[in-house]
Amino acid sequence: EQQKSTAADEGIKQLVSTLPTKPDCNSTTNLLYQYQGFWYHQFYLEHLIAAQTHFTPEPNSTILCSYPKTGTTWLKALSFAITTRTHYPPSQSPLLSRFPHDCVPFFELAPSVARNKLLVATHIPYTSLPAAAAAASGCKLAYICRDPKDVVVSLWQFQRKQKKEEDDDGDADMGIEEAFEQFCEGNSVAGPYWDHVLGYWRASLEFPERVLFVRYEELKRETERCVKALADFLGCGFSLEEEKQGIVQGIIDLCSIESLKGLDVTKNGRFAPTESMPYTIHNSSFYRKGEVGDWRNFLTEEMGARLDKIMADRFAGSGLGL
Ligand code: A3P
Repeated sequence: EQQKSTAADEGIKQLVSTLPTKPDCNSTTNLLYQYQGFWYHQFYLEHLIAAQTHFTPEPNSTILCSYPKTGTTWLKALSFAITTRTHYPPSQSPLLSRFPHDCVPFFELAPSVARNKLLVATHIPYTSLPAAAAAASGCKLAYICRDPKDVVVSLWQFQRKQKKEEDDDGDADMGIEEAFEQFCEGNSVAGPYWDHVLGYWRASLEFPERVLFVRYEELKRETERCVKALADFLGCGFSLEEEKQGIVQGIIDLCSIESLKGLDVTKNGRFAPTESMPYTIHNSSFYRKGEVGDWRNFLTEEMGARLDKIMADRFAGSGLGL
């Protein structure tokens, strides 16, 4: 078994070594590899390719899908709290002591933890999902997307923090202009962002009952309505009785950024989904401001308009607007 998996790993490494690469100014890893139309760091890509052949989700499971920095942690926390509420009311939720990324594992990073789970997550684009995980196979997918201007800023902040942690040299800081340029060219992790969004958008049109398309901004603005819709989608809608008991609000409060940010597991824990990951990430890095429109503090109006135009051009004819 061990030998087989080593041979498979070698095969994947060999494949990755033949792929087109680009420099990545945003990370200490330095290189992005292009695979099936998207860009990745080597470590993540090797796991993605292994998952394509080896990962089979549980029938009837739900996969929470996202591009990084679009609200993955929030969607995980809410979905986990919703689906476990009969065992754990919000005041006793495992989320109070376990990080959302540990409660709902990324199947490509932690396949053995994800096996047998009914709620898992992924950053893999729709068109590269393992065949058994696609909506056509019967899985349910909930996709969260977010205004790309806020995504690019959130990603830059996150990677900058990580880069500073990994690399003490004072020159590690890269400018937002460089990160923005890279994002607009589609050369960001799991990018191009527009293709990531479009893949799931098209799937949601093709399989409306099996693909839920959630927007971060809507979730912020109309949290209660979105949380109820999410519960319905997950197959465990709230009863009137539960609503009267304040369970919906309890879950919303539990999963708010303020609440999750203050927990010990956030302040002291680190995200390390697999031993082979070349770095770990401080849990607190996943919670920053959690606001809509923070991009205005970092990008100019012109930069914002440029990115909006790129998205509008790419989304033309798809029926999708951001
Ligand atoms: P900002 O950097 O704009 O603050 P992901 O979970 O996909 O990594 O995305 C992280 C982004 O979601 C960060 O955005 C983070 O602050 C925000 N976020 C994390 N948890 C949240 C929550 N419970 N409610 C709202 N936003 C949240």
